[in-house]
Amino acid sequence: MSNFYEQVGGEKFFADLVSQFYAVVATDPILRPMYPENDLQGAAQRLQWFLEQYWGGPDTYQENRGHPRLRMRHAQFAINTAARDAWLNAMRIAVDGVEINEELKTQLWSYCEMAANSMVNQPD
Ligand code: HEM
Repeated sequence: MSNFYEQVGGEKFFADLVSQFYAVVATDPILRPMYPENDLQGAAQRLQWFLEQYWGGPDTYQENRGHPRLRMRHAQFAINTAARDAWLNAMRIAVDGVEINEELKTQLWSYCEMAANSMVNQPD
């Protein structure tokens, strides 16, 4: 039984997803100021590595960045429900823009919602 990474077509899928996600981040009034001014490319690379690893692809994230500990890495950003919703909005657009079957889409989206909720670290 192949894993999610293989079922969606591997690296190309994640590159597409992440590039669509960052196209929205680049113009989002809440998100854009939170990301490095001159390095959206680097941020995109890190998210792509992470998602590939999470879904059963190569461990490139771990090799370059160490253990994910995502909640800790996000502690430096003030993430309230508005920031979470902006992140999820960008990811929804990206997920809607890729071609995979509905079952895989639902699986991906459920994970994104759960993960985004777990990153909230500020009261509204
Ligand atoms: C809930 C709203 C979220 C906001 C506002 C947010 C914001 C950010 C920002 C500003 C960065 C720094 C960019 C950089 O790497 O230079 C970052 C990094 C990162 N985010 Fe998020 N994020 C959110 C949720 C998530 C979720 C749900 C995931 C995973 C599914 C995620 C995965 C990552 C990863 C892998 C990095 C790079 C960490 C590293 O290696 O340094 N983020 N995020």
